Amino acid sequence: MNRTWWKEAVIYQIYPRSFMDSDGDGIGDLQGIISRLDYLKYLGIDVIWLSPVYKSPNDDNGYDISDYQDIMDEFGSMEDFDELLAAAHERGIRIVMDLVVNHTSDEHRWFVESRKSKDSVYRDYYIWREGKDAQTPPNNWGSCFGGPAWQYDGETDMYYLHLFSGKQPDLNWDNPKVREEVFRMMTWWCDKGIDGFRMDVINMISKTEEMPDGEVHGLYGSFDPYCVNGPNVHKYLQEMNEKVLSKYDIMTVGETGGVTTELAKQYAGEDTHELNMVFQFEHVEGDGKYGKWTDEKIPLITLKKIMSRWQCELYGKAWNSLFWDNHDQPRAVSRFGDDRPRFREMSAKMLATCLHMMQGTPYIYQGEELGMTNYPFRSPEDFRDIESINAYREWCGKGAVSHEIFWPCITFKSRDNARTPMQWDDSPQAGFTAGNPWIAVNPNYTQINAKAETADPDSVFHYYKKLIALRKENPIIVYGRYEPLLEDNGELFVYTRELNDEKLLVVCSFCDYETNFAVPAEFAGASCLISNTGDAYGETERTLKPYEAFVLHKK
Ligand code: GLC
Repeated sequence: MNRTWWKEAVIYQIYPRSFMDSDGDGIGDLQGIISRLDYLKYLGIDVIWLSPVYKSPNDDNGYDISDYQDIMDEFGSMEDFDELLAAAHERGIRIVMDLVVNHTSDEHRWFVESRKSKDSVYRDYYIWREGKDAQTPPNNWGSCFGGPAWQYDGETDMYYLHLFSGKQPDLNWDNPKVREEVFRMMTWWCDKGIDGFRMDVINMISKTEEMPDGEVHGLYGSFDPYCVNGPNVHKYLQEMNEKVLSKYDIMTVGETGGVTTELAKQYAGEDTHELNMVFQFEHVEGDGKYGKWTDEKIPLITLKKIMSRWQCELYGKAWNSLFWDNHDQPRAVSRFGDDRPRFREMSAKMLATCLHMMQGTPYIYQGEELGMTNYPFRSPEDFRDIESINAYREWCGKGAVSHEIFWPCITFKSRDNARTPMQWDDSPQAGFTAGNPWIAVNPNYTQINAKAETADPDSVFHYYKKLIALRKENPIIVYGRYEPLLEDNGELFVYTRELNDEKLLVVCSFCDYETNFAVPAEFAGASCLISNTGDAYGETERTLKPYEAFVLHKK
C-alpha cells in the first residue's frame, strides 16, 4: 500500500456560514475562519475542507454557484481568501475546496445565456428537453429537494433538468466545452495553491442519453439508474485526472451517494487514476421511514456490518474516508450516541474512538469535537434548510403523514441540526456573532462550548486532540489491517488492527447500561493507548461502563 500524506491526515470540515462571523452581520465569513485557525492548529488537524465560499444566491447555502472564480459577498473577498490560504499554510494546514460541478446556479452566466434561446452557444451546457405535452415534463423524475426534477422555461418552451432545486440546473458533462471550462476553472484554483477538492455529488455528472420514466417511490419516479454512476462518469473523471489532478500534489474526495464497495474500488482505486477516496453513505442512508426521514437509530449489528465490509473490502485496493456527520447529516452524538447530559461526553468520546481507530482518513465536522448536539426545534418556522422546508411541506402539507408522526423524524435528521452556529463560548450567541445569527444558536451553548472544552483536560475536545496525536505517532492506526470481532453482538463494537508485529484491540460499548467483556488472551498485559474512563486496564474480565471505549496496544 502506498504511503501518502492524505492517508495520514485528519480533516476538519468548515461550514463557513455557521463557523465564525467577524463583522456582525450574523453570517460566518472568511475573516472569522482566519481568527480561529489557531484553535484548529491546537486541535491538531492537518486539512480544512471548506464548504462552498463562491459567489452564490444561496438557494442551497452556496451549493448553487453563480461564479466559480469569485467569493460570496457575505463571506468576504478574494483578498480575504488569499489571506486565509496563506495563514493556513503558515500553520501547516492545507485547504481543500468544495467543487460543485454537477450543477450551477440558475444565475450563473452560462445558464442565463443558455435559457435565452435554443441557438445560444451555451444551450448545450445544460440539459434541455421537450415536455411530453404542453403541461407534462419530459418524464416523472423527482428532485432531491422535492417536486419534479424538470423546470419549464417559457422563454423557449422547453424543460431543463435539475436533480436538486430549480435554481440548480444540471450541467451537461457530455458537452466537451463544459468539461473544458470546468477543468480550466479547477486549474485556476490549483495554481492559486489550494490543496485539493471535495467533489459534490460527483457520481451524478454523467446521465444516460435516454431518459425514461423512473420507478415510482412516493410522489415521483427515481432518476437513480439514469443519473447516478452513469455511463461516462469514469471516463470523465479519468480525463479530469489526466488534465488537472495529476499535475498537482493535491487530494480529492468524491461525494458518491449510493456507491458500493465495487464502485468505490473504481472511483478511488490505488491505480485507477480517478479520485483519492470517496464518501460512501451506507451507514447514514437507508434508515429512512418516510423517504430519508426517520426517528430511529440504526441497529448496531447493521452499522457494524456496513463499516466492517467497507474496511475489509477496500483494504489494499482503495482508501476509505471516515465520518459520522457533515453539513447534510444530524449531529453524530445525537444520532449514533446519546445526547442526554449523563451520557453525552462518554458517548461522544466512544464514537470518536470507534471511528478514528479505523483505516481511512477521518473527517471531523465543526463542533463534533465539542460533542455538539441536535437542535431542539419547536416548529417548522425554525428551519432554514431548503430540503427540510420542502420535505415538511411535501409530506405533511399534502397529508401523507400527520405532523405528530413526521415531526420527530424530520427533527431527528434535518440538515439544520448541523448548521446551527459553532459554539465558541458562553457569551450571547455563543460568541459566534455580535449580531443576529442567520440560524438560531443551540440553547445548550452555555454548557457546551469551545472555551469550556479547551479549559477542561478531560473534555471531548481534548479526547479528539489525543486521538489525532495518536494517529501521528502510530502508523498501525493508519495502515494496519482491520478485523471485526463479536460480529453478532448487538451491544459492543469490537475490532482489531494489525501491522507487522503490532496489534490493536478496539472496544466500544454502544449501550447506556453496564455490560461484560472478556479481553482476548493475546491482549493480556497489553498497554492501554486511550480510554474514555481513565481506569487501569489490567484484568481480562471487565464490566464495561455505559458507552465505555478503550484501545489496547500489543507490541
Ligand atoms: C451535496 C451537498 C449538499 C447539497 C447537494 C446539492 O449533497 O453536500 O449540501 O445540497 O449536494 O449541491
